Amino acid sequence: MGPTHKLRRAVMAALLPAGLITTAAAEEVKIGVVLTYSGGAASFGEQIDRGMNLYLKQHPEAFGGHEVKLIKRDSKRPGGDIAKNAVQELITREKVDILAGFVFSPNAMASAPLATQGKVPMIVMNAGTAWIPNLSPYIARVSFTMWHSGYPMGKYAHDRLGCGTAAVGYTDYPPGKDSLNAFKTGLEEAGGKLLDAVPMGGPREVPDFTPFFQRVKDKGPNCFYVFVPAGNHAAAVVKTYAALGMRDAGIRLIGPGDITQDTKLQGMGDAALDMITMHHYAADYDNPQNRAFVAAWKAEYGADSTTDFMAVQGWDGMAAIAHAITAQNGDISAEGTIAALAGWTFDSPRGRIMIDAETRDIVHDANVHRIVKKDGRLAIQVIDTVPQVKDPCKALKIGKCK
Ligand code: PHB
Repeated sequence: MGPTHKLRRAVMAALLPAGLITTAAAEEVKIGVVLTYSGGAASFGEQIDRGMNLYLKQHPEAFGGHEVKLIKRDSKRPGGDIAKNAVQELITREKVDILAGFVFSPNAMASAPLATQGKVPMIVMNAGTAWIPNLSPYIARVSFTMWHSGYPMGKYAHDRLGCGTAAVGYTDYPPGKDSLNAFKTGLEEAGGKLLDAVPMGGPREVPDFTPFFQRVKDKGPNCFYVFVPAGNHAAAVVKTYAALGMRDAGIRLIGPGDITQDTKLQGMGDAALDMITMHHYAADYDNPQNRAFVAAWKAEYGADSTTDFMAVQGWDGMAAIAHAITAQNGDISAEGTIAALAGWTFDSPRGRIMIDAETRDIVHDANVHRIVKKDGRLAIQVIDTVPQVKDPCKALKIGKCK
């Protein structure tokens, strides 16, 4: 709702006898959506956008009769600058009530001060660096943090996968460094040893991973934990692992679920078999909410399309926004939105989720995924679950998470 709406409402409230204004008219709520709609990461924006739209279409009643207008902007790259300009324009010119989206961490980080200054709530639907919500009191995150997967995986790898020693390869930007710290902390607390940590280029271009993987092969760890920002990076990771014969050399490939993203899984071939990743969503999750989500998705976007973790984050984000809109009866404020989302729970296709009131970050299950062959296709089997994980970086007060 823009300022003119607010003024009109105040005037009406002054003119009408007490009590009458409580049957407030439907408000238009403007949501500024900042996603990568073009370039190498366009598929990420598309998945989140589709998840948001599908929720809107399937649950019109959840918005309390208020009209939702999505105003979309293309952040194009991970660099932060384009997203920041888009957010500036969305706040000052479009006068959006809510900001949403943000695939890449640097884009969310660059935008956070503007959310604070403009007093606009910002719903993060991907960007996973743990300390992002610390950058503005008006940020709530419905996606994940790198620690939800990395920290429990460090422990699990040591205790259950025989990873007494490990190496980490990571894309060299904030969520990559975060993922390294998360895995290292979990591994070392369990008694394991990190032999090497290899930065593997930036998020914009998919590098030739060969020299980085060769360096790890030469070190000979039990396990190789890799974080790359999903998509084409992930497909190249499994290919390079296979090409260098690392499995035969006795090195197990593990990581967060970003490296076994559903949209890329079938293209990975048998080299992905038996890989173990830790994540909060896979299209194969067998629960009623996910079966309905996947069926609605395929009906809307085609039988060959698939949901993935970004898709569910768009869906859940829209459910969170619907809750915030109805809780405030369409009259959106930053404080009111954050208050409405504090402690909010939802039966998501990923399982039960909650927004932690203190940190404004998501709480969800971290699931251990094994890649298996089922009916001639690669599938994700959940073999273990760490229930309802609260971001460990903030719980342990590490670094910028303090
Ligand atoms: C991020 O930039 O925070 C990011 C991007 C893609 C991922 C995970 C994290 O798969």
